[in-house]
Amino acid sequence: MSAIAPTQILDVPTAILQRRSIKTFKSDPIAPELLKQLVDLTVAAPSSFNMQGWQIILVQDEAQKAALSAASWNQQQIVQAPVTFVFAADPYAGEKDLTPIYEEALKTGAWNEGTVNYFKNAIPQFQAGLGDKRREYAIKDAIIAATHLVLAAESLGLSTCFMNGWIEDQVKAVIGAADDPDLAIAVIVPVGYAAEPRLNPGRLPLSTNVFVDTIGNTYQA
Ligand SMILES: Cc1cc2nc3c(=O)[nH]c(=O)nc-3n(C[C@H](O)[C@H](O)[C@H](O)COP(=O)(O)O)c2cc1C
Repeated sequence: MSAIAPTQILDVPTAILQRRSIKTFKSDPIAPELLKQLVDLTVAAPSSFNMQGWQIILVQDEAQKAALSAASWNQQQIVQAPVTFVFAADPYAGEKDLTPIYEEALKTGAWNEGTVNYFKNAIPQFQAGLGDKRREYAIKDAIIAATHLVLAAESLGLSTCFMNGWIEDQVKAVIGAADDPDLAIAVIVPVGYAAEPRLNPGRLPLSTNVFVDTIGNTYQA
């Protein structure tokens, strides 16, 4: 991946602290090379067994954006932002043909034949063992990819908003997955240039939700 150079790239801690959920976007487009860089950084995310079971749909067409907004309680971020990433997750990715993943890892040298042979049994076995948690596990991977997108976007001068406010069946219809009963929608993320800044609504004190060894044993920084 060749990185393009915006005027200033934020380091990870700064991007984390500066990121806000932006509710209004300018209509300014995202340069194609910048969008490609975002996509590359998104799919650089880790996933269980490197299965990469996410299906990422970049919604850019005006009619598609309007339909997606309608499926999302008419939230306007989707109409305003030049692109909205829909993160879908395939709960059965591990039971599908993983040959391209094995071939790539053999090519990079990250995995050897022994690792690949182990995974050929271990992955379907692990997936089958998940039972009705397959969907939950697939969503975890997709959400991690979405988090990569959000922080990469912030670092590169863009803004985002994680979104859970949508009706799954309607979102699936918009992205052309109405006939796939298994595909899950994990999260939706509009990306663009912020029209207005937002303040940090703040976080709870660490004493309420960060513990050492067992819940209730408060972390003393
Ligand atoms: C999983 C998730 C779903 C969210 N869904 C929505 C949404 O549908 N619409 C919206 O305007 N904000 C949504 N938010 C944004 C939250 O309201 C926001 O993250 C929270 O208020 C903290 O603000 P901050 O992101 O600026 O730190 C969502 C955030 C997360 C993490």
